[in-house]
Amino acid sequence: MKNIVLIGFMGAGKTSIGIKLSYALKTPMEDTDKLIVKQQNRSIPEIFATDGEEAFRQMETNLLRELIEKKKTSKQGLILSVGGGLPLREENQKLLKELGMVVYLKAKPETIYERVKDDTNRPLLQCEDPYKKICDLMQEREAKYEAAATHIIQVDGKDFKAVVDEIKKLK
Ligand code: S3P
Repeated sequence: MKNIVLIGFMGAGKTSIGIKLSYALKTPMEDTDKLIVKQQNRSIPEIFATDGEEAFRQMETNLLRELIEKKKTSKQGLILSVGGGLPLREENQKLLKELGMVVYLKAKPETIYERVKDDTNRPLLQCEDPYKKICDLMQEREAKYEAAATHIIQVDGKDFKAVVDEIKKLK
């Protein structure tokens, strides 16, 4: 089976959809945020506060390289959900495609806001006006997500099962 990589903005459903997809396809799932937290033994807000965003971005690139190395010797497929900022580096866009099929879960800012408004675990959205921040970041990131993706799925108004069914049909 081909690896499936899920990308998209914070709150687009990458982790939840990844877990459901993992059950449906009986394929293991990993999440870059969780792997980094495990490697570092610190939370994402702690990493951002102590080392800064750039250091976190470098951890993401290093992790992608490790996963590509692992893929070379693994017979099993993998579902991988990646942090919302990971596809922004051009280098990472190439690495993601080396890993497998890259599915962009595309959502409107309203959808994202509804899902993340009570969350304190995303340092970039801990600000005065998170809705505006989501709109601004989305505008900056959209083209990069599209460049990183091999497939795009619009998720607004769909439940996770509907999105999982769409992904299962992708070739
Ligand atoms: C980030 C998204 C987060 C996490 C970090 C930075 C981003 O992951 O990697 O807070 O820049 O969009 P999720 O997309 O899983 O929330």
